[in-house]
Amino acid sequence: MRGLRGRDYISVADFNSNELWRVLELSRDFKLRAYSGERVIPVLQGRTLMLIFQKPSTRTRVSFEVAMKQLGGFTVTANWTELQLGRGETIADTARTLSRYVDGIAARVYSHRDLVELAEYAPIPVVNALSDLEHPVQALADFFTIWEKKGRIAGVKVAFLGDGADNVAHSLILAAASLGARISIATPKGYDPSPKIMKIAEERARSTGATVEVVRDVEEAVRGADVVYTDVWVSMGQEAEAEKKIRELSPYRVTREVISMAKPDAIFMHCLPAKRGYEVVDEVIDGAASVVWDQAENRLHTQKALLALLL
Ligand code: CP
Ligand code: NVA
Repeated sequence: MRGLRGRDYISVADFNSNELWRVLELSRDFKLRAYSGERVIPVLQGRTLMLIFQKPSTRTRVSFEVAMKQLGGFTVTANWTELQLGRGETIADTARTLSRYVDGIAARVYSHRDLVELAEYAPIPVVNALSDLEHPVQALADFFTIWEKKGRIAGVKVAFLGDGADNVAHSLILAAASLGARISIATPKGYDPSPKIMKIAEERARSTGATVEVVRDVEEAVRGADVVYTDVWVSMGQEAEAEKKIRELSPYRVTREVISMAKPDAIFMHCLPAKRGYEVVDEVIDGAASVVWDQAENRLHTQKALLALLL
């Protein structure tokens, strides 16, 4: 296994199954140590992470900033438009410059291509903090949470309801395939996951025993599920399509009835922020099956592990 130091994490597919497990195992160490009072573990003393945002963020921004500080390092956070990027300085020139100041960059962008370009020109690690295609740091927290709650990942069935071409869904599919889980995406016609993502997932699934399927029927996806997962129907940047998406995705809302079709001990997950009353109703997200706050907390532990390994 190649070391993770110096690597980029733009897609879940950038790491193989052993590498993903390494992040999850280190996340467990960091979490255990945090709970026994050792929140500050200064393995990144003197190191700096730059955070760049083209879109709003609560969890990603705060968990990365806190993670870096708890590892003894620093962060610089800026919106894309307040950098010279907003005035047309190229991504390549920005990458070359920032690499002289900081040790890693995490960026949240509209176009996944911009991240690929940033990584191409930055000799330091570049992390995807969400793009239109993927949300790979979210998938780390998601599968860490599943491992924590279910005691295993291999063979666990995850049902994702909603937009199958969603960034969070794409990263979940790749992580499930890499870690040997079973994932069933319930989505209407026209919302299938990216064929490129499905191809990588299917290749990985062959060696891990994972299964990846796309179905139209909610009950078919949720039957026997250990995890019921959903995300917003209208992602950041898709506001113009909001009316159409809400209309077409509303049969995929997670209600109590949907949860009752899953295994009796099934958990409900959501990357957050939630649009309550749309993709999920209050009684589910606030109900006994919901683990969304632990899931949000786990962003911190998993990103500490990721940063410690990359930087
Ligand atoms: N789940 C997630 O990435 O949340 P934020 O948009 O608040 O960062
Ligand atoms: N799919 C959502 C995820 C937010 C964390 C979005 O892109 O807006």
